[in-house]
Amino acid sequence: MNILVFGGVGQLGQCLKKVADSKGIDGLIYLDEIQGNILDVQLLNSLFEQYQPQYAINCAAYTAVDKAEDEVDLSRLINKTGAENIAKVCVKHNTTLIHISTDFVFEGKLAKALNEEDIAEPINVYGLTKLEGEQGISQITSQYFTLRTSWLYSEFANNFVKTMLRLGKEREELGVIIDQVGSPTYAVDLAGCILEIITSKSDAYGLYHYSNEGVTSWYDFAKAIFEFSNYSVKVKPLKTSEYPTKATRPLYSVMDKSKIKSLLGIQIPYWRDSLAICIKELGF
Ligand SMILES: NC(=O)c1ccc[n+]([C@@H]2O[C@H](COP(=O)([O-])OP(=O)(O)OC[C@H]3O[C@@H](n4cnc5c(N)ncnc54)[C@H](OP(=O)(O)O)[C@@H]3O)[C@@H](O)[C@H]2O)c1
Repeated sequence: MNILVFGGVGQLGQCLKKVADSKGIDGLIYLDEIQGNILDVQLLNSLFEQYQPQYAINCAAYTAVDKAEDEVDLSRLINKTGAENIAKVCVKHNTTLIHISTDFVFEGKLAKALNEEDIAEPINVYGLTKLEGEQGISQITSQYFTLRTSWLYSEFANNFVKTMLRLGKEREELGVIIDQVGSPTYAVDLAGCILEIITSKSDAYGLYHYSNEGVTSWYDFAKAIFEFSNYSVKVKPLKTSEYPTKATRPLYSVMDKSKIKSLLGIQIPYWRDSLAICIKELGF
């Protein structure tokens, strides 16, 4: 079985490789931005001709949330048009598409865990273009799984955990946002979920929410990172208003994961348990 992984050297792409290798799952082809440029339709066609993949996993995205506010066209090109390009080639080759989206499709004003039926009202360009990508895919093919996830981190690429560990080494005190609440997700767990969907050969296609279990703030997340890494850093709570960013972020961004658990039988680890594993993997 051949599985094309677009964005194959990004954070999630590297986690897929780690999990697939550890489970002995073969056939994944990890494509970087040049080998698998999702904006190059001719290239996509020839890759699908060559590999005749059963699955395509789209981890490729424009993920610079603040920069997207100034690069609307590029963000839309990658997150919407790029996703649609893959979906169209998938239809031609009867390939199942597994696409990754985000909790940032939600406004985040309700202190309630949102499910897949809840209305998406993005409040930043990144969220809007990711939503457009989801919608484009669902209009092109019915043979897709779109997984919305949140607060991804891992031992790979740049992410909040690695930033905190770097700052923890350099600083004695640090301010971290306390009034944005969500669910951290270990990208290795998400990769495991994607591979479970593939190996189960499920045809329960559609939109799903996936994050680690539990709810926390960035402040509490940082405290846990320093606890597990044994750094004695004083963490100061900051309000969003004290740390202005170009893109507005949802304040309450928790997803209901009942659907993925019941329809696909996915078991989801608790965020602190996964964080402890990641920090160990990072050598602490
Ligand atoms: N990171 C998070 O906190 C988070 C949260 C929720 C959802 N997500 C979603 O999860 C998915 C994976 O995120 P991630 O953390 O793995 O992101 P990432 O590390 O930024 O990986 C994205 C990859 O896509 C590549 N890419 C950009 N333009 C491309 C193009 N035209 N063709 C092919 N590849 C291209 C990037 O290459 P370059 O680096 O060379 O540009 C990068 O390797 C994305 O869909 C993202 O929207 C992420």
